[in-house]
Amino acid sequence: MGLAELSEENNSKMLHGEHIILRLTYISRYNNHNANGEVTRILAQAQQNNERNGITGALVFNHNYFLQSIEGARPIINELLRKLIKDDRHFSLQVVECCEVEQRRWSKWSMKYLIPSDENKGYALKFSTGAHFNPYLMSTPQIMMLIDTLSTLDEQQQEDKSIPKKKKSWFSIG
Ligand SMILES: Cc1cc2nc3c(=O)[nH]c(=O)nc-3n(C[C@H](O)[C@H](O)[C@H](O)COP(=O)(O)O)c2cc1C
Repeated sequence: MGLAELSEENNSKMLHGEHIILRLTYISRYNNHNANGEVTRILAQAQQNNERNGITGALVFNHNYFLQSIEGARPIINELLRKLIKDDRHFSLQVVECCEVEQRRWSKWSMKYLIPSDENKGYALKFSTGAHFNPYLMSTPQIMMLIDTLSTLDEQQQEDKSIPKKKKSWFSIG
C-alpha cells in the first residue's frame, strides 16, 4: 500500500471515529430460559471477539442481572451495541453511561468477569438500598462506583495470594 492510500485509509478511519475511545456501560436482565452454562458461553464469546476487535471491559453477573462496561473504538462499540440489543439471551437493556474517554479503564482485560461474593458484599451494598443486587434500582453514579469497586477489589485479591480463591455467591437465585 502506497503512502497516499495509507493516508486516505487513515482519513476515512478518522471520519468514522476509529481514533476515539468510547466507554459504554449498560445493565440488562438475564433471560433465564437459556440453557445451563449460557453465561460461560457468553463470556467466552465476548473474550474471543473483543480480543479481535480491540475491545476491553468488565462484566458483572448475578443470576438475574448483567452489568457490563465496554470500551474501544467508537464505531466498533456502536456495532457491538447493535448486536447486544438484538441478543435475546438478555433483555431490557438500558445504557447507563456512554462517554468518550482519554484512556481505558479496563485495558488489562478483553472481558473481566466480576462475581459478587461474600467478601465484597459489604462494599457492593454500600451503593444500593436493597438487600439484593438490582442495578435497575441504582443510579448511574452508584452503578459506576459498584463496578469500579468490584474490579479494584478483584485486582487486590489477585495480588493477595492469602485470600481464599473460592467465593460463595451472596445473591439469591430467582
Ligand atoms: C450480557 C452479554 C454480554 C455480551 N458481551 C459481548 C462482548 O463483550 N463482546 C462481543 O463481541 N459479544 C458480546 N456478547 C454477544 C453479542 O450479543 C453477540 O452475540 C456477538 O457479538 C455476535 O458475534 P458475531 O458477530 O461474531 O456472531 C454479549 C452478549 C450478552 C448477552
